[in-house]
Amino acid sequence: MNNPATPLLQLDSVETYYGPLRALSGVSLTVAEGTITVILGSNGAGKSTLLGTIMGVLDGQPHRGTITFRGQRIDGMATEKIVRAGISYVPEGRRVFPELTVSENLKVGAYTVRDRQSTRRTLERVHDYFPLLADRQTQPAGTLSGGEQQMLAIGRALMNEPELLLLDEPSLGLAPLLVRQVFDIVSQIRDEGVTVLLVEQNARMALKVADDGVVLESGELVVSGTAAELVDNDEVEELYMGAATTASEQEAASTASEREAQGGAQHDVDLES
Ligand SMILES: Nc1ncnc2c1ncn2[C@@H]1O[C@H](COP(=O)(O)OP(=O)(O)O)[C@@H](O)[C@H]1O
Ligand SMILES: [Mg+2]
Repeated sequence: MNNPATPLLQLDSVETYYGPLRALSGVSLTVAEGTITVILGSNGAGKSTLLGTIMGVLDGQPHRGTITFRGQRIDGMATEKIVRAGISYVPEGRRVFPELTVSENLKVGAYTVRDRQSTRRTLERVHDYFPLLADRQTQPAGTLSGGEQQMLAIGRALMNEPELLLLDEPSLGLAPLLVRQVFDIVSQIRDEGVTVLLVEQNARMALKVADDGVVLESGELVVSGTAAELVDNDEVEELYMGAATTASEQEAASTASEREAQGGAQHDVDLES
């Protein structure tokens, strides 16, 4: 099932512009099937632009270069076709339909799937990942907390039964306990066979669950390698795993151990191993 030698997604010399501004310059990237690949980089580096370019949501972009999914060119394709080809996307800011209930939001996510039985099975899986979504089926999504909306946004993306899931800063603005839960679930999703391309600023946390990683700086890939190589990279260490991250990480770890002490852990994956 997991064949790290098979590139599921391949970008070759991709360039993306906003008007005259070149936001991506010659980005070449390979995402192996069955992995979590993390895109690190500071604010404005072009991380969201990279995901948007893959999804075809930026008008007329990429300007140059090619994007190949399962050997098929997807650059220049309409977003809906890209979704149908098997890529789901959770943009920054956990967008859900606030007026729709939790269960309606999940149904919307399944719009590309014809097979009702399959949708039912996927819904069960999503409820297993996120038990709170099963408990809140009739609640309007807009009344969920930020963390709950993020869970719903990821759950909705999974309803499309993607082969590749693009996540843009899923942990942003979440309490440390929820950050830990989101990362646990992302690694479970990968373990069940969905390839994940993850944008994160929380490098330390992300590199614990990721298999591979790249660093984007001013629209260019400056480092790429395995997660272990990135952890050992001095530049990555200095720029993205400084004191601030360490503090929130420690907080996350202690909150997680409190939760485990209370026996409330629902998605335990040992991130330290
Ligand atoms: N819609 C837009 N119009 C013009 N410039 C944009 C737009 N979106 C992003 N940019 C610019 O492109 C660069 C990369 O942005 P972005 O991909 O959002 O970075 P990141 O996600 O890494 O923070 C930044 O300089 C940003 O200001
Ligand atoms: Mg961004």
